[in-house]
Amino acid sequence: MSDTRRAIVLAVGGGIAAYKSAFLCSRLVQSGYEVRVALTRSALNFVGVSTFSALSGQSVATEVFQPDKHPLGAHIELAKGCDLMIVAPATANLLSRFALGQADDLVSTLYLQLTSPVLLAPAMSDSMWNKPAVQRNVACLREDGCQFVGPSTGWLSCRASGDGRMSEPNEILEAAEALVNR
Ligand SMILES: Cc1cc2nc3c(=O)[nH]c(=O)nc-3n(C[C@H](O)[C@H](O)[C@H](O)COP(=O)(O)O)c2cc1C
Repeated sequence: MSDTRRAIVLAVGGGIAAYKSAFLCSRLVQSGYEVRVALTRSALNFVGVSTFSALSGQSVATEVFQPDKHPLGAHIELAKGCDLMIVAPATANLLSRFALGQADDLVSTLYLQLTSPVLLAPAMSDSMWNKPAVQRNVACLREDGCQFVGPSTGWLSCRASGDGRMSEPNEILEAAEALVNR
């Protein structure tokens, strides 16, 4: 039987908020989506492949070159038939690489390969978020057609309150559903 579910690529960057993305993954699956997860190498410091493979029910991609699992290249296979890409947390580094059009790891290469809408959920410290270089990248990505959810103001893992807190998973889910159903 063919899979008629809408497909969402969930790309997880290397920020402390990555733990919330496990919950987001589960909420997306419970909402009826096929969820394909890609983790950056940095994300692996915060969350594990097993968590996301169990929650999504699919193997998790971490590298462009995984010939046993993805003979065509993980970026090609994950992008095929994808209805939406969510990047959560979208690190300062990922925002910069997307804005520049770099393709030096799986998630940046996937971003270039995808033709679906892209929803970015930034998460970083207040200082990082308010840095002119980061704001330039955000403006550039908005111009390129990316959608943003958050960040909000609140408690940050650097033990201070400020801008840069990742939106809560339910809020990201709501923004994702609005884009998929647009
Ligand atoms: C404990 C810790 C927490 C971090 N949290 C964030 C974060 O919330 N946002 C961010 O942009 N970078 C954060 N970083 C820095 C990123 O991990 C680093 O820039 C990395 O290169 C990002 O790689 P990626 O974008 O490929 O995932 C953190 C680093 C450490 C050690």
